[in-house]
Amino acid sequence: MSDQAADLVAALAGLKAEAEQAIRAASDGDALQRLRTEYLGRKAGRVTAILKSLPTLEPDARRAVGQAANETKAALESALAEAEAAAAAGAQAPAPDLTLPGRAVWRGAIHPVTAVTDEICGIFRELGFTRAVGPEAETERNNFTALNFPPEHPALDQHDTFYLGRGTLLRTHTSPVQIRVMEAYQPPIRVVIPGLCYRRDPFDASHAPVFTQIEGLAVDEGISFVDLKAVITFFVHRFFDPGVRVRFRPSFFPFTEPSAEVDVQCQICHGVGCPVCKGSGWVEILGCGMVDPAVFEAVGIDSERYTGWAFGMGIERTAMNRYGIDDIRQLFEADMRFHAQFVDAT
Ligand code: PHE
Repeated sequence: MSDQAADLVAALAGLKAEAEQAIRAASDGDALQRLRTEYLGRKAGRVTAILKSLPTLEPDARRAVGQAANETKAALESALAEAEAAAAAGAQAPAPDLTLPGRAVWRGAIHPVTAVTDEICGIFRELGFTRAVGPEAETERNNFTALNFPPEHPALDQHDTFYLGRGTLLRTHTSPVQIRVMEAYQPPIRVVIPGLCYRRDPFDASHAPVFTQIEGLAVDEGISFVDLKAVITFFVHRFFDPGVRVRFRPSFFPFTEPSAEVDVQCQICHGVGCPVCKGSGWVEILGCGMVDPAVFEAVGIDSERYTGWAFGMGIERTAMNRYGIDDIRQLFEADMRFHAQFVDAT
């Protein structure tokens, strides 16, 4: 290659590098247009000038320089086309408005009833209790008969229970799962049983026709009322506050003997008296008692050898007491302003 041709090829390489850098730095379509004219313009483009000079060169030089010039031209064409497309796209998109407030992010939360259920099961788990469940559509036998309800008991009334026909109903409490567990497993038994229950109650501030209970059941040799009191008191102190007062009131259930209802100091007014505790300073949280021998008989457990206790706790009321909610209906609302309050609480 002649010196002249070598100089021209080197000049083309320099032009290419210089032009590519300028294209990358160009800020808009106008600047790119100016670069196109400067390098590839038909009249005075710098690459064009070299292409125009080809006829004056020796044939060998013409071939070498011509090839380099065409390659440079093609490279710059495509760099320009790409940069022009990018500039056009950028010009169409409106500039982002950095002063707009951010979009609120929806944060899901655990429902207070679910959170309380899990927390209670967790506390009992530490004491060796397993979680068990049973169906919401139950047999009359499991819901009433095997639990020692006499045929004339008011809970069996059409007005208190949703009957499904053919000896089935929507369970009115979680106690029928006691029957299922005792028929499936031999003592020692320690279970907690969360689940939905149904009663033909009005839907008002303190009642709902569907609600959640947790049943507790312990069956073993030598279990006494002392165990029941100790476990319930331990639970209340763990769940509410170590200083909270607990009281056991004598009561009656067909499937426990003796039976008791358990009250805790109202967590809204701390025992002073308020509308939630109806001025008494106490809130009832559960019913409990020693498993009646008639229930052991119904499931085939030897009542001479084994004793046990059971309790049934209303979860909505417990959640209300815990979080200071004064109307049970709020727990059934889909109003996210209500639920958003518990995003961090639960
Ligand atoms: N099942 C009873 C109710 O729903 C509560 C209960 C459960 C009482 C277990 C004693 C033992 O009212």
